[in-house]
Amino acid sequence: MHEELSTLKNQALAGLAEATDAGALEAWRIKYLSRKGGALSEAMKVLGGLPREERPAYGQAANEVKIALEAAFEERQEALKAAALAAELGGGALDVTLPGRPPALGRLHITTQSLRQIYAIYAEMGFQVYDAPDVETDDYNFGWLNIPPYHPARDMWETFWVTQATAGATTEGSPLLVMRTHTSPGQIRVMRERCPEPIRVILPGKCYRYEQVTARSEHQFYQLEGLAVGRGIRLTDLIGTLQQFARRMYGARRRLRVRGSYFPFTEPSIEADMDCILCGGKGCGVCKHTGWLEVAGAGMVHPIVLRNGGYDPDVYSGFAFGMGVERPAMLKYMINDIRYFYGNDLRFLGQFG
Ligand code: DAH
Repeated sequence: MHEELSTLKNQALAGLAEATDAGALEAWRIKYLSRKGGALSEAMKVLGGLPREERPAYGQAANEVKIALEAAFEERQEALKAAALAAELGGGALDVTLPGRPPALGRLHITTQSLRQIYAIYAEMGFQVYDAPDVETDDYNFGWLNIPPYHPARDMWETFWVTQATAGATTEGSPLLVMRTHTSPGQIRVMRERCPEPIRVILPGKCYRYEQVTARSEHQFYQLEGLAVGRGIRLTDLIGTLQQFARRMYGARRRLRVRGSYFPFTEPSIEADMDCILCGGKGCGVCKHTGWLEVAGAGMVHPIVLRNGGYDPDVYSGFAFGMGVERPAMLKYMINDIRYFYGNDLRFLGQFG
């Protein structure tokens, strides 16, 4: 009779030795120690069927087996936990001698760098930076800049039309929205906001043109507009400002020349060139053998434009200019394709700064 109990005990202990993880251990506990249907509980049931005098001895023996198995179980459980912990610590060990992985450092986009350089130069001359929207009404982009509908000058700008809104849907009385083709519409916005105060601002921003993308022209690019309005502002103020800019940006010895030109929003209109930064005016591939590089389109703000901005052209005058932002950087770094600027190729972008 007691033999059965000792067989059970031996069997259980052998089984326990084979339980090498928490799952197997739990299965073992259920098999032997569970109160419902565990092997030991089953063995206890025999007790009732035994002759009265044998019961105490059997009961005591069974109890001893139970205590022994419970103790063995706990010991095994502790041992497995300790082994698991040791494995975890050993397996996940940190190798402090491994070389580190440097985080990738970002940098400013080449256009951002150019713009900041330009802001700094104009800031020293008293110009504030003014932000105007990228999506404009037809009136701001054309009409109020003295470019009425069907005016042939509209051909100067290939336009992305955004919507043809239903009549009355826009506030400015114009049903048409465009992606601005130049930064000049910002002139009207600043004037209407500041009138009748004097103005000295630059307006940087992206411009959009429905154009074939080539090495020389992108359909999306930056311009920087300048505007000064006040009493007694003259063409020589404009020329002096552009000359100062060219010298601070490209070197103290830069020479500026001015040619007559045409823009609908300025009268008179000029184009300003500086002597080539590469050959100094002798003529080379960069300046197409002319010795000159274009800096800006500019002029005195047209009286009609001044009036559209709220200023009386008999009292106030002003100058305006517009210049590219990518092209100067292309010259400076000898970049021969404008498409690199916004192609998001890190091999290109990583070279600047
Ligand atoms: N808006 C002109 C363009 O995109 C550039 C320009 C020329 C701006 C003369 C001006 C200006 O302010 O006076 O071609």
